Amino acid sequence: MNTEPSILEVKDLKIHFDTFEGTAQVLDGCSFTLGRGDTLGLVGETGCGKSITAKAILGLLPVPPTRIVSGEIRFHSRDLLDLSEKDLEKIRGNQIAMIFQDPMTYLNPVFSIENQMIDVIRGHARHANKTVSRGAAREKAISLLNAVNIPNPRQRIGDFPHEFSGGMRQRVLIAMALAGDPEILIADEPTTALDVTIQAQILRLIGELVERFRHSVLLISHDLGVVAAVCRRIAVMYAGNIVELTTIERIFENPAHPYTRGLLRSIPNLARRKENLVGITGSIPDFIEPPRGCRFHPRCAHRMDVCQKVKPVLADIESEHRVACFLYESSWPSASRPEERIKPLP
Ligand SMILES: Nc1ncnc2c1ncn2[C@@H]1O[C@H](COP(=O)(O)OP(=O)(O)O)[C@@H](O)[C@H]1O
Ligand SMILES: [Mg+2]
Repeated sequence: MNTEPSILEVKDLKIHFDTFEGTAQVLDGCSFTLGRGDTLGLVGETGCGKSITAKAILGLLPVPPTRIVSGEIRFHSRDLLDLSEKDLEKIRGNQIAMIFQDPMTYLNPVFSIENQMIDVIRGHARHANKTVSRGAAREKAISLLNAVNIPNPRQRIGDFPHEFSGGMRQRVLIAMALAGDPEILIADEPTTALDVTIQAQILRLIGELVERFRHSVLLISHDLGVVAAVCRRIAVMYAGNIVELTTIERIFENPAHPYTRGLLRSIPNLARRKENLVGITGSIPDFIEPPRGCRFHPRCAHRMDVCQKVKPVLADIESEHRVACFLYESSWPSASRPEERIKPLP
């Protein structure tokens, strides 16, 4: 799909959670790639498995109750799922960094930004078997705060997290994520906690940083508008599956999956934040007893008999446009032939 060689390749990732009620089949075989300088948005309703995907990449899922049932997460051809916690620590932050939704959870309220950033910068150096003096780390921290457009970074660096506004705290968190000069930046709902104006500023900042430093970005959001502001490509996720994977232009011009079409109908006004989908009836299925076949079929206006029995394959309908839906012949598993297609339900 991507002309540049991929640096991250998630292949058929299946993740289950063991709960008291039973096993929740949360990720049901997700596959996507991320190339150098690539910007991929992962979009879907709350609860569809976006954060689980991000945490799996960073090895941050608690085991138990999480079980990685199958799949690979290849980073420069090494499978991250095979690495020890010690090796993962070297990659986390250094090569793959994460920006979360709520900066206050990740900033320590009792230490100044200066102390926290110096710790992060020196920690990265240690992982690379280098030493950085406090003074040099402080200078680097100031230049990072400058890069994320914090005014007067030399003065502000001594402040504590509560002395910054929500938007400024998110900038600090982005600066910290950049501290290890990562190849990949994963941002999980980075603007959801912010008001709309600040949200637009942070998205602009992420866009500028991508242009400037050529990071590869995986941007996660329930909001298609957020992803469209930064990303070139988009993966639409539904109930633990990627149902459509293509460019932003194509998603808006020619959405192929019925779920994607519903997603688009639900955002007539991008400024209005709304988590439920007005274009589609019903809600995300139970992960303990998910619908058989295509997990979207109970909500789909186009469902056919086969959709209730067989899982559609995510396959190309055009170059750079993959869809998992039996409305497209490419999604039929090779074992079941299109003649077996049964008329759509009324
Ligand atoms: N610790 C857990 N135990 C059981 N189920 C979980 C746990 N964490 C998340 N889940 C389930 O996994 C699904 C996906 O979660 P998540 O990846 O956080 O969704 P989102 O797309 O909103 O980021 C959710 O529907 C949730 O019910
Ligand atoms: Mg989430």
